[in-house]
Amino acid sequence: MEQRWTKDNLTSLQSNILAEEQKHPGATGEFSWILSAISLATKAIGNKVRCARIEDVIGDIEETNVQGETQQKLDVIANELILRCLGDRENIGILASEENETPMFLRKRADGGRYAVLFDPLDGSSNIDVSVGVGTIFSVLRLPDGGSREEAILQPGNQQVAAGYVLYGSSTVLVLTTGNGVDMFVLDQSIGSFVLVEKGLKIPTGNNAYSINEAYTNQFSDDIKSYLNWAHENDYSSRYIGSMVADVHRVLLKGGVFIYPPTKDKPEGKLRLMYEANPMAMIVEQAGGKSTAYNTPVLEIHPKGLHQRTSVILGSVDQVDAVVDFLS
Ligand code: AHG
Ligand code: MN
Ligand code: MN
Repeated sequence: MEQRWTKDNLTSLQSNILAEEQKHPGATGEFSWILSAISLATKAIGNKVRCARIEDVIGDIEETNVQGETQQKLDVIANELILRCLGDRENIGILASEENETPMFLRKRADGGRYAVLFDPLDGSSNIDVSVGVGTIFSVLRLPDGGSREEAILQPGNQQVAAGYVLYGSSTVLVLTTGNGVDMFVLDQSIGSFVLVEKGLKIPTGNNAYSINEAYTNQFSDDIKSYLNWAHENDYSSRYIGSMVADVHRVLLKGGVFIYPPTKDKPEGKLRLMYEANPMAMIVEQAGGKSTAYNTPVLEIHPKGLHQRTSVILGSVDQVDAVVDFLS
């Protein structure tokens, strides 16, 4: 008999994944191997984030990553922890990270490397030093038979088999979709497990709130400026943390819209398509929300490169539509 989840059940991430897999005849269980490695890695990263000032791992390392952005000590530590925890999972063929210029080819498809995991090891890293919420974002793709290894991961976001993030905030929260709705888990420090707190999460509507770095207004296109003027006249509220994970998490739970539009300095937008925008867009859409990169839905963009940037508008359907109405 199928076990039904209620708020009274104590269900771990691991048991939830196994229960989900049992619903699919022929499931090999290999997916749970990937997610258990992500769970282990993010618990270790969360631990480092919480002890950052005690262990003196705040600040930068005077080097830049492939994006030309200064790497924080914790960016590097988080990246290494993910590589250590996921590197030996036999079903992962490719690992790709914001912090590494090229993907790491671990094993061939013929040798069992059926999946690629793409990740932003530490998102919002400029917020670490001030103890503001930061996170890890990940996207899982199935690798095709044949084709060149470089091209294997350049799949549009609608091909993702799973996506999620972990927010290291006042609690450590893991949000996950495997294409069948969105589940939310909170790390219970006392038992060391992510515990299911919400199944089938739905993003609310009716919250007039936007999340955008409004200091760049002079660099925005006229349509975004017009939207903001309209929002100012319609009693909107503004919330912007500067960590995509934290901003999107708030939008997922409270409703509203997150916007990172093109700017004069960054005409493509700032956020990375494959390991920031795509996983967040999949989560938001699986929760009944909407996402777009101006004229193209985020999840339909065919990536040309691992570190490609995009503009992003995502959140509650009503709030995204209110922005889209202003786009020419
Ligand atoms: P990362 O720390 O992984 O480089 O990402 C930072 C990103 C994202 O978290 C956030 O939404 C955005 O940068 C904020 O950018 P601005 O400071 O330009 O607003
Ligand atoms: Mn990021
Ligand atoms: Mn990052």
